[in-house]
Amino acid sequence: MATTEVRIAPEAVGAASPRSERLPDPGVVVIFGASGDLTKRKLLPALFHLEQQGLLPAEFAIVGVARRDLKGAFAADMKDGILKFGGVKGEESKVDDFIEKVEYHAMNFDDDTGYADLKALLEKIDKERGTEGNRLFYLAVAPEYFSDIINRLGEHGMAHPEKGYARVIIEKPFGHDLESAKELNDEVNKVFEEEQIFRIDHYLGKETVQNILVFRFANGIFEPIWNRNYIDHIQITAAESIGIEGRGPFYEKAGALRDVVQNHMMELLSFVAMEPPVSFEASAVRGEKVKVWRAIKPITIDNTVRGQYALGTVDGQQVQGYREEDRVDPNSATETFAALKLEIENWRWAGVPIYLRAGKRLEKRVTEITIQFRQPPMLLFDRLTGPCNEIQPNLLKMRIQPDEGISLRFGAKVPGPETNVCPVVMDFQYATAFGVNSANGYERLLLDAMLGDQTLFAHRDGVEATWSLYTPVLDAWAKAKPRDFPNYTSGTWGPKAADGLIGRDGRRWHNS
Ligand code: BG6
Repeated sequence: MATTEVRIAPEAVGAASPRSERLPDPGVVVIFGASGDLTKRKLLPALFHLEQQGLLPAEFAIVGVARRDLKGAFAADMKDGILKFGGVKGEESKVDDFIEKVEYHAMNFDDDTGYADLKALLEKIDKERGTEGNRLFYLAVAPEYFSDIINRLGEHGMAHPEKGYARVIIEKPFGHDLESAKELNDEVNKVFEEEQIFRIDHYLGKETVQNILVFRFANGIFEPIWNRNYIDHIQITAAESIGIEGRGPFYEKAGALRDVVQNHMMELLSFVAMEPPVSFEASAVRGEKVKVWRAIKPITIDNTVRGQYALGTVDGQQVQGYREEDRVDPNSATETFAALKLEIENWRWAGVPIYLRAGKRLEKRVTEITIQFRQPPMLLFDRLTGPCNEIQPNLLKMRIQPDEGISLRFGAKVPGPETNVCPVVMDFQYATAFGVNSANGYERLLLDAMLGDQTLFAHRDGVEATWSLYTPVLDAWAKAKPRDFPNYTSGTWGPKAADGLIGRDGRRWHNS
């Protein structure tokens, strides 16, 4: 297949936006669950990068909170994390300087003395470092601790400080069904106002996800055809080649639908399908997203497929099946793959099917949105004798990761005396066009939370809308245990039934 690359001249990229516009006020980031993987692999490297770009205030500190008594080992572990996962090369002294801002506080999350001591520590930091009473609490803990921590922050006067702001970032999973999400929202709303709550979905921090809105609304040519008149269907794939990475107990309770579909994939879908918001303000953007989710028709079970991986080969390595993973029930009914067909019942999308699939231990890692356009009303060039024997529909692929970019497939005449048509691809790649790899999504989201910008965070209404959609599916799946698990070999594209789901509509998955 021929490839035409779209090159962007370096001068067209221009300088980064002025730093001062996005510089947060002095403050402290307090991470609960700081001894976990997320802090080391994502949060500290993200904060370090922000600091290196001049995007953190000089008066800044990080307090890691966890149960274990780690003493000095915490800072050393965080340094190790930044060096290992932050793509830092030859900048060890800069990391050392940054680590000076990190403190550790050991406490049990249900221990009142621990909260009183934490409060005193934060006040001391305010005096020593000029952090002005501003606090961003990050709950990187298992969901069962969310309520307790939030309530005790409230009881100890840390939710509404006399001076400065208090905000709370809550990691997913936000509830495990509609009822639990509502309960959690009620609990959190008793202590914090909605403007103080930042429900994080790291997909929204990804450049390529934000670019969906830029692609649609900063260009004149796509929006007029972005509807049922021109689009045949939409596919969204979130394929991972990794397994559950030692997270057996978590994944057993979650499964693919709760882990990535209800949140990450719904975020992707909302950006693809939403109406243009009246502004890029949080309430306008979040309001349009919720409208999309609420317009999705209730999902019937015949429009769902679930799967679980069996042993197989991924990237040339033999891997074990899900049921053989550490701390997984040998008869587990948890799905590691889900495929669904959705329909949005509104004027823009009625009649345009949307196919989603997500899974672990699939053939390769790729997250991608494919828009398949309708074919021309009459095919002039249908008697083809050349290498391609049918005219293919136009495909627009938005590659979220890896090899971030956008490509457009169209038909071109094959050089020669006859009129033969073959598909070719126009390809935009972030790395070639801008010369940078897109940042870890947490950078942008941590910065936005420090700035108090909620545009890229989930609102209560949104979380409840997506759970309303998926809770009936989860309930139905729980009632009818799958009899064919494990039903796909690791290293493939998932169960055969997923091909059937799209195939019965005369369509097929576009595997990259
Ligand atoms: C997390 C899920 O939210 O997202 C993981 O819990 C999944 O199971 C991960 O692997 C995928 O994130 P990314 O950024 O690698 O696509």
